[in-house]
Amino acid sequence: MFEYLKLQAQYVSNDPNYLECNKQERKKYNNTASEVATCSGTVSFHVINIRTDIEFVFFAGGFETPCILTRSGPMKFSNPNEPLHGHVSSTDSAATSMRLTWVSGSKEPQEVRYGDGRALTSTTTTFSRDDMCTSILPSPAKDFGWHDPGFIHSAVMTGLRPSTAYSYRYGSDSVGWSDKIQFRTPPAGGSDELKFLAFGDMGKAPLDASAEHYIQPGSLSVIKAMTDEVESGNVDSIFHIGDISYATGFLVEWDFFLHLISPLASRVSYMTAIGNHERDYINSGSVYGTPDSGGECGVAYETYFPMPTSTKDKPWYSIEQGPVHFTVISTEHDWAENSEQYKWMERDISSVDRSKTPWLVFAGHRQMYSSTDGLFGTDDKFTKAVEPLLVQYKVDMVLCGHVHNYERTCSVYDSNCLAMPSKDRNGIDTYDHSNFSAPLHAVIGMAGFSLDNFSQPRRWSLVRISEFGYLRGHATMEDINLEFVNSNTRQVQDSFRITKGQK
Ligand SMILES: [Fe+2]
Repeated sequence: MFEYLKLQAQYVSNDPNYLECNKQERKKYNNTASEVATCSGTVSFHVINIRTDIEFVFFAGGFETPCILTRSGPMKFSNPNEPLHGHVSSTDSAATSMRLTWVSGSKEPQEVRYGDGRALTSTTTTFSRDDMCTSILPSPAKDFGWHDPGFIHSAVMTGLRPSTAYSYRYGSDSVGWSDKIQFRTPPAGGSDELKFLAFGDMGKAPLDASAEHYIQPGSLSVIKAMTDEVESGNVDSIFHIGDISYATGFLVEWDFFLHLISPLASRVSYMTAIGNHERDYINSGSVYGTPDSGGECGVAYETYFPMPTSTKDKPWYSIEQGPVHFTVISTEHDWAENSEQYKWMERDISSVDRSKTPWLVFAGHRQMYSSTDGLFGTDDKFTKAVEPLLVQYKVDMVLCGHVHNYERTCSVYDSNCLAMPSKDRNGIDTYDHSNFSAPLHAVIGMAGFSLDNFSQPRRWSLVRISEFGYLRGHATMEDINLEFVNSNTRQVQDSFRITKGQK
């Protein structure tokens, strides 16, 4: 029964083009009129290797009252141990080492071979149904959404040079090898240039007519547009700020997500922050006691996306790339004054060497400012607790998601505009931080999840766009240029710039 939940086709009679009935045959006649007609047709599926057997079941009656017409019987993947979904992430600001993480059905150590004949053996980890959270009502993760993740392999490639291309492949002679892939290390912290992409709330969508339990319709166009950017060589690194796959307890959907982001995440550093849909669950230690992770309570996220954090379930870290210091927090873990995370973020942002990395970007999943009310409304307690630190330590820009649209503020503190950007000679909104008053905030949760409308314009809100896309950033020692790119039209729909007044 479990497999039906994982590969559900759409209800054919609702969608006449779904199954093309092109070979018709009349079977039974009553005088000259045919009483029974049959036909045959084909349906194609894009199937991801999920390691366990799958079965195709053809049914009528819809999901509520399915009536099975025929079934294929269990089908095996030819190589359930195939090494798949390799993705790279930074381990530190020197950019001389990079972590590669991949998935396989085999727990035997494998290798990554990279550069000029270097090789490293992987360490493996996994998680079990017992690691999932549940409550009085069983969570999907623990119950009908569980799927064995196989083994997650990881190896840190060392001895690299920053801003340099390397090729690699991973696997072993017994399980097979990945294709040869080329990736590029990001620029070292303190070097003079960084090109990055940032967004939140991307998720996934099927590549065929299948239904998944949770579909983010914009994800495919955003991934395609960003893949084109990566292929053009214009991207050093990517930041995905929470609400990653929306597997939310239907664990096989992590494999679907990892497959989709592979053209991006296998080539440049893919850094993440945790969101409510990865972490939150009742009585599990998350700030918000909602069931949004479907019982995953951060375990799957942490296993698939090992970030340079201090230990398990403390998913906050900082990383420097080029002239930017990124402080990445978890809005889902205690951020109250005197909490461990609060102390860490104060220590981190107060100790940034601004002569080395003049730009300080603070990223976390939930927003402090949004003109969208309702379900994703702002938690004033979070804003009150953390916002003073951002002003005190001169954070230039706050990036967040959670709300599914794009919005940019003035230099804002306590809901007041302390400064407005001015137009530069090209007509671009420019925030002059040589005379710093407060950070600007950008909501960038428009990367896949169904878009949100804006409730009402607020005085601190300068730009509001409800379209799928991503933020493109280009930082130098003098300024950061940022653009909101619409992934469908590829048009830049908002541009702004932060300077320290040198220009
Ligand atoms: Fe969210």
